[in-house]
Amino acid sequence: MTRPRVFVARRLPDAGLAPIAAECDVDVWPDRLPPPADELRKRVAGCVGLVSLLTDKVDAALLAAAPTLKVVSNFAVGVNNVDLPAATVRKIPVGNTPGVLTDATADIAVTLLLAAARRLGENSTDAKEGRWITWEPTGWLGCDLVGRTVGIVGMGRIGFATAKRLHHGWGMKVLYTARSPKPDVDRELGAKHVDFDTLLAESDFVSVHADLNPTTTGMFGAEQFRQMKRTAVFVNTARGPHVDQPELAAALRAGTIFAAGLDVTDPEPLPPSHELFTLPNCIIAPHVASATTGTRDAMARLCAANLLAGVRGERLPHCVNPQVYE
Ligand code: DGY
Repeated sequence: MTRPRVFVARRLPDAGLAPIAAECDVDVWPDRLPPPADELRKRVAGCVGLVSLLTDKVDAALLAAAPTLKVVSNFAVGVNNVDLPAATVRKIPVGNTPGVLTDATADIAVTLLLAAARRLGENSTDAKEGRWITWEPTGWLGCDLVGRTVGIVGMGRIGFATAKRLHHGWGMKVLYTARSPKPDVDRELGAKHVDFDTLLAESDFVSVHADLNPTTTGMFGAEQFRQMKRTAVFVNTARGPHVDQPELAAALRAGTIFAAGLDVTDPEPLPPSHELFTLPNCIIAPHVASATTGTRDAMARLCAANLLAGVRGERLPHCVNPQVYE
């Protein structure tokens, strides 16, 4: 019997690759860099399944070139690299990996918040490069955290896990934006659902956890940074395009806000010569929020489960376009 053909756009942890290889005829892209668009198109043509990464653009042209495709399994919780309407029109379910990376991502949000607040990027570089000349009463002063206010932009799973850490760990007051108030969150964290302007004006720390879509793209621009406190720390672990980066750089340079911690940028990778890398009050990680061994294994298992369900014609355990089943 011929086995279903699938293309896996990068080497995944074995926890995901092994179950896929057990059932399918797998073509794994061997390089560290993503397949170029034309190569991706060639490899996917004739496949029934595709495992894509957030660096692979799964657009209408790619889907049109793969008429036998029955499932796209994205190795990420975010699916902004996939043209969902185009997949839905073709009745192709798209899977993602929610839940399993919540804690790892919240950990990085808090790590960046602490690092930016305490100027860790700047002062550790200073120490390494010989500018640590003595213990100074007014040297490298950062922000206090206990009892301050955190504004969570997008109170989903990761926003909640981040808020929980900051509330229970540092006694922070929690404000949040979401489509509607979340009574459970309000009860558990004493949190308050507010409008975006209030969140910006009243938060000492602003942490972004919203999905990237046309309404959230560019939601942080000059005006939003102006509305924030001059002592505010901005953290983004969601997606780079939420932020107008030249305006963020301008705000950090001018002291409109105190500091930023970013795990995501636009583009990725951010060129080493980019202005944001030159600013001492900006600390940047290379999109590593889910990068723990346990989390990546769990993502790989979920990704394989989605792919195999789609290949077998079953409902995906985690499908972001369930309309395909209607
Ligand atoms: C995701 O899953 O969307 C993260 O950005 C990468 O793990």
